[in-house]
Amino acid sequence: MENQSKTVRVWDPLVRIFHWSLVVSFAVAYLSSEDGEGLHEISGYIAFGLILFRILWGFIGSQYARFSDFIYSPQAVMEYLRSLLTTHPKHYLGHNPAGGWMVVLLLLGVLATGFTGMKLLAVEEGRGPLAQIEVPALISPAYADRDEDEDEEHEGRGQGENEGGEEFWEEAHEVAANLTLLLIFLHVVGVVVSSRLHRENLVRAMVTGDKRSV
Ligand code: HEM
Ligand code: HEM
Repeated sequence: MENQSKTVRVWDPLVRIFHWSLVVSFAVAYLSSEDGEGLHEISGYIAFGLILFRILWGFIGSQYARFSDFIYSPQAVMEYLRSLLTTHPKHYLGHNPAGGWMVVLLLLGVLATGFTGMKLLAVEEGRGPLAQIEVPALISPAYADRDEDEDEEHEGRGQGENEGGEEFWEEAHEVAANLTLLLIFLHVVGVVVSSRLHRENLVRAMVTGDKRSV
């Protein structure tokens, strides 16, 4: 009786709320990216904020939420991947060694997407949390130029520089968003493959928090 359905609490409530809120906020941010305003900004800030929380939680959270629980050596990753080809793949209660590194990449991916988005908003419209840092740096050289002799040429160049910055951050933001989307695709493939090989439903575990103990 007791060993038939022995389960262990693996994902604490905050990890689960974090995960599904991130799925929703990232999807909304991606799908509303056309205008870069309103809904896009709000959902982007939420996704970025969730990552900041998760990084903190990676140090002070429950056992399986901690980075120290799921950051494995490259050898352990190779060993795990090799074991997938055998009839008895190594089973982990928390993230497996490959999944652990994927978590790190996903966190970095969303972090970079959010940061470049805020940078883009700052150089494009002088708004957002990074605008204060950006505005003096961009405006003071422009004023300095105007104080000197010829204005038109200098002003023209100043604008050109600004546009260059916009293009750079727009490109960076787009690349970061699409690389993160690619990682998410690999992440979901990993979840499906791992669920099949270990005959367990990892998606359900991220909902209920529980996993089979064996
Ligand atoms: C509908 C699509 C998705 C499904 C079904 C899914 C499923 C899962 C599952 C089952 C886990 C636990 C993996 C394990 O057992 O080791 C997980 C973890 C994780 N997923 Fe997803 N995921 C999805 C989309 C996303 C998206 C869009 C992101 C955002 C970038 C994301 C980021 C993460 C992160 C960061 C973790 C680590 C959770 C933690 O330890 O806090 N996932 N996902
Ligand atoms: C973290 C989730 C986010 C995702 C997935 C995301 C994704 C995207 C994508 C795919 C684009 C279109 C890029 C292009 O085609 O040029 C875009 C544009 C943009 N994003 Fe984000 N973004 C995120 C967060 C943010 C944040 C936090 C901000 C700023 C607060 C932001 C500000 C912008 C701006 C200003 C644009 C330009 C819109 C335009 O001028 O056409 N994004 N974003």
